[in-house]
Amino acid sequence: MKQPVRVTVTGAAGQICYSLLYRIASGEMLGNDQPVILQLLEITPALKVLEAVRMELNDCAFPLLHDVICTDDAKVAFTGADYGLMVGAKPRGPGMERADLLKDNGKIFSTLGKVINEVASPEMKICVVGNPANTNAYILMKNAPNLNPRNISALMRLDHNRAIYQLAEKADKPMNTVQKMTIWGNHSTTQVPDITHTTIGGEAAPSLVDATWANEEFIPKVAKRGAEVIAARGSSSAASAANGVIDHVRTWVLGTEDGDWASMAVCSDGSYGIQEGLIYSYPVTCKDGEWTIVQGLENSAFITEKMKASEKELQDEAETCSDLF
Ligand code: NAD
Ligand code: LMR
Repeated sequence: MKQPVRVTVTGAAGQICYSLLYRIASGEMLGNDQPVILQLLEITPALKVLEAVRMELNDCAFPLLHDVICTDDAKVAFTGADYGLMVGAKPRGPGMERADLLKDNGKIFSTLGKVINEVASPEMKICVVGNPANTNAYILMKNAPNLNPRNISALMRLDHNRAIYQLAEKADKPMNTVQKMTIWGNHSTTQVPDITHTTIGGEAAPSLVDATWANEEFIPKVAKRGAEVIAARGSSSAASAANGVIDHVRTWVLGTEDGDWASMAVCSDGSYGIQEGLIYSYPVTCKDGEWTIVQGLENSAFITEKMKASEKELQDEAETCSDLF
């Protein structure tokens, strides 16, 4: 049996975590031979609810769950952590954009970035979920210079999965036949779901669906899906977001399938002309716990223009919160 790894999860008494924690503990994220210790962080008023989460985790008798630590002390939560899932943040309500959360949520990520910088291993792998996820990851990175920036990412897998569903439904094909989906940019309405290089059962997706649908219906449908869920549910996506986190980390750690890739927001190295250092979503392949941006894709003027607009939005968000780093 492998040694247990420590997974820190913030906002652990919230909606997303109610779907997420049980799947981590069951082995879906890191493999069914990998024991885990959950280090759960909450704000003090939520500790009672967090205690109930711990009771339910215990009552599942997961063989891989070695311990559950519940705390409102970020130093305790991040000490010794191998993974940091940064969920704890305010969600938006109807009529809001995710960037409207920056004022409140940005502070959480500057504070936690400093704590992580002090107590965590530079090799801890981080997935930021709390919105606006890319800029919160950027704030965290700027406040945690000891961390390897390659280990700081933001969640785009929910958008990636949403795009797979929309395309598979339109083409009337099973979802597991869709490969090489790409989401470029920010987890916002400027994101660029792109099927140019996507295949369905090995065939080029653009030859199977109408270009007008791809450009005028598919892109906004995926980009605005979060708001559609909020309008229907009254609160933001939770189970699908948790599923996105599971997929994101599993792919990062256990690797992409041959012939496929995933979308991850990572620290840009300047690929595709995007400003270095921004947390920008790219198509990536993963192997041995490392991601690599897929290189050499030809992008149309239409896609390139949208990619630049999403980059500009991230530059503007960074500018807005420059007091936090
Ligand atoms: P929620 O309100 O149900 O839970 C958030 C939890 O975070 C609460 O329990 C709260 O007490 C806790 N919290 C607040 N500040 C904290 C802090 N400083 N440290 C630790 N915990 C803290 O919200 P939710 O539905 O779980 O969503 C969480 C975040 O995830 C929101 O910002 C939401 O917009 C975002 N989200 C992102 C994606 C994505 O794809 N990136 C998808 C869905 C939701
Ligand atoms: C989502 O995409 O569902 C989340 O980012 C929540 C939101 O505010 O849309």
